[in-house]
Amino acid sequence: MIIDGKKIAAKIREDLKKKISEFKFSNKMVPGLSVILVGEDTASKIYVKNKEKFSKEVGINSQVIKYPEKIDEKTVLNKIDELNKNSEVSGILVQLPLPKHINKRKIIEKILPSKDVDGFHPLNVGNLSSGYESNIPCTPQGCFLLLKEVEKNLNGKHAVVIGRSNLNGKPMAQLLLKENCTVTITHSKTKDLKSECIKADIIVAAVGKPKLVKADWVKKDAIVIDVGINKTESGIVGDVDFEEVSKTVKAITPVPGGVGPMTIACLLKNTVECFKRANS
Ligand code: GUN
Repeated sequence: MIIDGKKIAAKIREDLKKKISEFKFSNKMVPGLSVILVGEDTASKIYVKNKEKFSKEVGINSQVIKYPEKIDEKTVLNKIDELNKNSEVSGILVQLPLPKHINKRKIIEKILPSKDVDGFHPLNVGNLSSGYESNIPCTPQGCFLLLKEVEKNLNGKHAVVIGRSNLNGKPMAQLLLKENCTVTITHSKTKDLKSECIKADIIVAAVGKPKLVKADWVKKDAIVIDVGINKTESGIVGDVDFEEVSKTVKAITPVPGGVGPMTIACLLKNTVECFKRANS
């Protein structure tokens, strides 16, 4: 089974669009998303453009604030302060990576946790790891929803997460733990990655190494979620050797068309949830 992230993301957006038009009808209000983009990183510019496009499509009032690479940290912090106080702004996202002279931690901590649609603020991170309600980071949330499309009950499943980033690996592991999975987090210093993967009912690969996960690393009834987006001479490929692995497993996400579209759909979902909490 190939998990169609594009289709599932489109369904989420369709549902959000309906909800937003109902809010608009009954409350005369719509969710607002402010995205801050610093500098000229090519990938970031594409991501932000897509975030803006899909926000508009579902009826979110979207605003992109662009700063040049050399902008001082204080200006960005002041802007976040202004957005925190603006009741028309439901969600704030600062696109990463930031230039080196800007302290990422300071920026993330400046965003009100209730408007932190990325779920990167320490309060949201802590709430997720304590199993409390929180804003859940968009990429792992997207992976999780794809997984649930295939398997409703994850109780006792052995999940192997490849990669330990704050953006994906760590929150992914927390989501799987919450569902009673036995979770192994692997990373660049893991001694024998293949022997870890071979035990897995679920593999989530998020390391940025093209076609790292091979067919003989994966059990035949495993579910494989591929977060990788790697540019190679033969085009964009994931962290999993899709051609080979897809022949044996129970379900797998393609790249592109798997996790990618879900990330933005979950950002829109988080924005709508922040809006609902602020207005209930
Ligand atoms: N850069 C790459 N992925 C992300 C993300 O999910 N959120 C933000 N803010 N920046 C990113």
